Amino acid sequence: MAQKIAIFDTTLRDGEQAPGYSMDLEEKLRFARQLETLGVDVIEAGFAIASLGDFASVQAIASTVKESTIASLARALPKDIDCAWEAVKTASKPRIHTFIATSDLHLEYKLKMSREQAYEQALKMVRYARNLCPEVEFSAEDATRSDRDYLCRIVEGAITAGATIINIPDTVGYSMPEEFGNLITHLMHHVPNIDKAIVSVHCHNDLGLAVANSLAGLRAGAQQVECTVCGIGERAGNAAVEELVMAMRTRSDLYDYSYKLNTQELYRTSRLLSSITGVAIAPNKAIVGANAFAHESGIHQHGMMAHAQTYEIMTPESIGLKKTTMVLGKHSGQHAFKKRMEDLGYTLSPQMATKLFADFKSVADKKKEITDRDLIALMESGTHAAPQLFELDNFVVNSGNNMTATACVTLRREGRKMQAVEMATGPVYACFKAVERIIKHSYVLEDYQLRAVTEHRDALGEVLVKISDNHGVYRGRGVSTDVIEASLQSLLSAVNRMIEVAESNEKRVAESDNSGGWKAKEWVQLSQEALARDMKISGTVEEDVNKELLHGRL
Ligand code: KIV
Ligand code: ZN
Repeated sequence: MAQKIAIFDTTLRDGEQAPGYSMDLEEKLRFARQLETLGVDVIEAGFAIASLGDFASVQAIASTVKESTIASLARALPKDIDCAWEAVKTASKPRIHTFIATSDLHLEYKLKMSREQAYEQALKMVRYARNLCPEVEFSAEDATRSDRDYLCRIVEGAITAGATIINIPDTVGYSMPEEFGNLITHLMHHVPNIDKAIVSVHCHNDLGLAVANSLAGLRAGAQQVECTVCGIGERAGNAAVEELVMAMRTRSDLYDYSYKLNTQELYRTSRLLSSITGVAIAPNKAIVGANAFAHESGIHQHGMMAHAQTYEIMTPESIGLKKTTMVLGKHSGQHAFKKRMEDLGYTLSPQMATKLFADFKSVADKKKEITDRDLIALMESGTHAAPQLFELDNFVVNSGNNMTATACVTLRREGRKMQAVEMATGPVYACFKAVERIIKHSYVLEDYQLRAVTEHRDALGEVLVKISDNHGVYRGRGVSTDVIEASLQSLLSAVNRMIEVAESNEKRVAESDNSGGWKAKEWVQLSQEALARDMKISGTVEEDVNKELLHGRL
């Protein structure tokens, strides 16, 4: 009989920890709902004690998602566990995921603890968590560089103390597939009570082996695999869920596993992640990249026409990508547009459909054929653009190789037009300076990326910008046949997010004293007590508390 495998998604915790992938509460909630639709068994919604933002989003996800188990990470500390429980307790299936490092390197230099102390602490905290929550996962951080006998001992103890899931992380992505498989086999044979818990694997991708190691772990008997959408995560990331599941599905001759996940939601989920975070998916990304199913060379096309399996080991439909022969252009109606967007994996609200259709029409006026990649780019910039505070009315630039560029930019806000003229070394820079003058809010341009959406001469230009002020970092995305317009749109979507935060902070500061509610206050108390302890979350708690205070959220 096929072995059941549980898919544990940590995009919102390990993934969100990676630079450039942070999401706000509403975005995390939207993404968690899509993970539920995808059919993951467990959603690790965050690290509740790490920040008030994390706490609030774990709590919101726990109260919303019904089908998947909701887990919060917690160090092996009472306050972390209390905070994690407070955040997940409303979930229909809650889980506390507690961890402690087990390698000598981590024990000596990070935790400054002996093996014995870490053993006692782990068992005590598993017991503590189990008194609160029926499901407790214990992770032995840096397991792959830990002494095997010690690892077996702590795993056995954690199960006796009540852990229902034992997770074996390759925290620094150091292991090789055979070695990782052997480690799981070793635990299976040397931990006497291992059959009382579910064994889980959690592999990082530093050597590009996260998926291979996870599969090796499953073959050795693990029944849960931890992964993220598109493999996002600390440093080189985690095992990518789409790669893992499609490997199991495509090679079911080798992997006789059953899982709940609906592979036809994989494409939609990866696109949603990209539109929320503003981070593009590499075209050659396995399974969900734009080229993953494109057959451009003559030899491949010929083979494909003779028999699809000559060059295709899985179908685009299996990940939710529908093939089309329909080309959209300026005469295409809203119905055809909406249908194509649905085929590409997007469900549009009526307002979104109207806005995107207007964007589509304005591009179709300038560009004869609109490809799927153009539509994806429009969708990703469209969903990223909210809120609409400042809008572009018009711009004029004057630039050349022997002159200083000048830009005259006119923006609208609530029907009022505002204009500024600026000079700079280039036309984009001049436009950005003009916007800064109009919005009267300084920012730093952290990143600017311009790329063509397709290879054709009339390709759409897509611009991604990242700006920051002293409250945070904001991303924007813009698409147009004119790269200056795409740059301005992209800047404005980031600016609008920044202004929204700044204005709501001002409002909250004005209402300050009574805001926050008991949960926020309790969170601060918990964090400050945790701070007083000698084991910190690498110094982030204090920064986060300060950041939250700055944001006026407390
Ligand atoms: O990589 C790791 O060790 C982790 C643990 C906290 C599970 O993410
Ligand atoms: Zn990890």
